[in-house]
Order: sequence, then structure tokens, then C-alpha cells
Amino acid sequence: MGLTDPSKRLEAIPPYMFAELERRVADKRAAGIDVISLGIGDPDMPTYPHVVEAMQGAVAENANQKYPSNRGREEFRQAFAGFYGRRFGVEIDPESEVIPAVGAKECIYNLSFAFLDPDDVALAADPGYPPYTAGPLLAGAETVLMPLVPELGFVPDLDGLDPVAASNARLMFINYPNNPTGAVVPDGFFERVVELAREHEILVVHDNAYSETTYDGYVAPSFLATPGAKEVGVEVFSLSKGFNMTGWRCAAILGNADAVSSYWRLKTNIDSGLFEAVQLAGVAALEGPHEPVEQMNAIYARRRDLVVDALRAIGVEVTPPKGTIYIWAPVPEGHTSTSFAELMLEEAAVVVSPGSMYGPSGEGFFRISLTTPDERITEAVERMREHLGN
Ligand SMILES: Cc1ncc(COP(=O)(O)O)c(C=O)c1O
Repeated sequence: MGLTDPSKRLEAIPPYMFAELERRVADKRAAGIDVISLGIGDPDMPTYPHVVEAMQGAVAENANQKYPSNRGREEFRQAFAGFYGRRFGVEIDPESEVIPAVGAKECIYNLSFAFLDPDDVALAADPGYPPYTAGPLLAGAETVLMPLVPELGFVPDLDGLDPVAASNARLMFINYPNNPTGAVVPDGFFERVVELAREHEILVVHDNAYSETTYDGYVAPSFLATPGAKEVGVEVFSLSKGFNMTGWRCAAILGNADAVSSYWRLKTNIDSGLFEAVQLAGVAALEGPHEPVEQMNAIYARRRDLVVDALRAIGVEVTPPKGTIYIWAPVPEGHTSTSFAELMLEEAAVVVSPGSMYGPSGEGFFRISLTTPDERITEAVERMREHLGN
């Protein structure tokens, strides 16, 4: 073993996909190439002014500059309880059923450390957000992938789950509206998840990162609104995407009180909580007007239509998503996900994410993020048309 060799667990994790892509894009830009990134889903529009103002006031207060507690401020927990009641019709006890997280990514990783031992299994959506697989691996456990079936509306075939994996599973990671497929939850799916979780005693983690980013009148539910969900699950709610707050690291875990409490216990050993000024900004976001969210969704919907039309014009079959900031499309004939993404980067200087980055079932697809200003999206699809069109 060398002095600086990382642990075997860390070695087992593939490098975080976007880190590698960012490095290559930086090299190209340094060489003077105008690369347009439709890769990472980081909203280009600013955080809403009332949220920034709340932060500006809060950050100047000496009382907010101290160590926070991992339990979170009363106002923060109350604001989440209020939001879940109004928005989702879900009753949350602010005393026991919600605490802050330093972004959903942190929370998803740490849930693996809170609930998995070596030899335990976590079930993870495939394709899926990478921490669903990297978290369990880092915790020394095993991940069993649940392929999302396009014909079922991009949900896993729960009836076809390997019975051994199901009986060894302790955690299940799911996410709707879904990254990367853009799918929204089909009727009855959450109910079936609750049934399965009860049968096999699996703690369900529903990652609700995109519920506020929806189109065409679709309103996304919370998993916790499903009868029995709170007995078997938690939901991670991030303010990153719906409120343009990716840099703020503001999220919460809600639901099953025992699970929330175990996460809290773990977190007291790991970090010192979410900056209180950020918590107060989060309160302003949750309690503020919903119009800015709707205005932003109108902009995403316009970009979505633009990309869908352009892809269809060059023969790529694509369904306009009802939610998320992503278009999930099949790669043209004769390409793999990676060869297509390489072609786009090298020939058109456009970054798209190869579907295989999100798991083996993502092979044959690519993902486009709508978080780039309209004129740059237009330019990017023009370049794609130039290199692919007949
Ligand atoms: C499904 C999903 N969950 C969570 C996150 C990250 O959320 P946060 O910024 O709160 O860590 C992302 C970001 O792309 C995501 O796609």
C-alpha cells in the first residue's frame, strides 16, 4: 500500500462523471473552442430576489453566524411542515419528521451510512442519479440495480425483482419526476412501492428533487402522500432546482420519524449542520410566492419544445417530458451513448450526457439539460443539426 493510496472503497467508485467532463470542457475552452454545455443540470437563472434578500439580512446577524444544530431551526422545520401541507397535502410533524440536509446529495450519501452494513443491499434505479449506487458502495454494501423499463413509463418492474435481492435489501432509492429520463410517476407505482417495502422491510428513499419543475399543467405528488408511505419511507426535498439554489446547499429529509432520527444521529458525527442564514433563506423560498417558479417553468417549457422540435427534425424520436430539466433521447443509429457524446463534443463542441453515465440501462440514450439560455440552446441544436442532419 502506498502512502497516498485511497481506500479500497474509494477505489471502487467510478470517478464522478461530471468532474471528468468538466475537465475536458475546460481544456477545450482554454484552447479557444466555444463549447456549449447541455450536460450538468445547474439552473442558469438566478435565485429569486426575495430569497437573496432574506439571506442578506440573515447573514449579517451575529446570532446566525454560530454553529447551527443538526436538528435545524424551528422556523425551518415549521416552514417545511407548512409547505408539505399546502403543496402536497402531507402532514409533517416539525418536531420529529423533518431536519435539514446540506443538499440532497449529502443526504442521499449519508443515508447509506446510516442504514447499510456490509452485505446489506440497496436497490437503486438504473438509470439513476449516481449517488444511489456510489453511496452504498462507499458504505461497503452492495447495490442491486433496478432497470427502469421504458414500456412501464420508466419505473422498475417490481414484480420481477430478484427475490434474494429483495429480501436482503434495506434501502431503495427512487426519484420522480425522474433524472435522467424526465418521466413522471405512473398511477399506482408509489402504492406498489409501499406494498413491497412492507413485505420485505425496506426503507424507501424518494428523492424529490424535481417536483416543482413540471409542465403542461402536471403537478407532481410527494411520495409521502401515498397511504402508508411514512411507515416505510423518507423523502429528500431539495431547493436546488425548483428555486434556483444549487449553490446554497439547502434541502431537508422528511417522513418516517425513526429514520429521520437515525440520519440526525449520524449527522451529529459528520458535520455541524446547515448554515442558519441558509436555513432562513430556505424559509423565504418555501413561504414565498409561487409565481417565480411558474415563470421559470414557462421558460424551461419553451426550451424543451425547442429541443424536442430540433431533435425530431433530425429524426431523433423523443417524448417531451412533463417534468425535470432534462430531455432523454435515443442515440442515432450506429452509435453508443459514449460514441454519440464524443461525436457531439469533438465535432459540434456541444456537451450532452451519455445515458450510460447513469447506469447500464441508460445505454443507447443521451441526456440534454435545459439549463442554458435560449440563444445558446438554439445554437447548440443548430450545431447538432449540422452534424447529424441530412
Ligand atoms: C435526482 C437528483 N437528486 C439530487 C440532486 C442534487 O440535489 P442537491 O443539489 O440538493 O444536492 C440532483 C442533481 O442533479 C438530482 O438530479
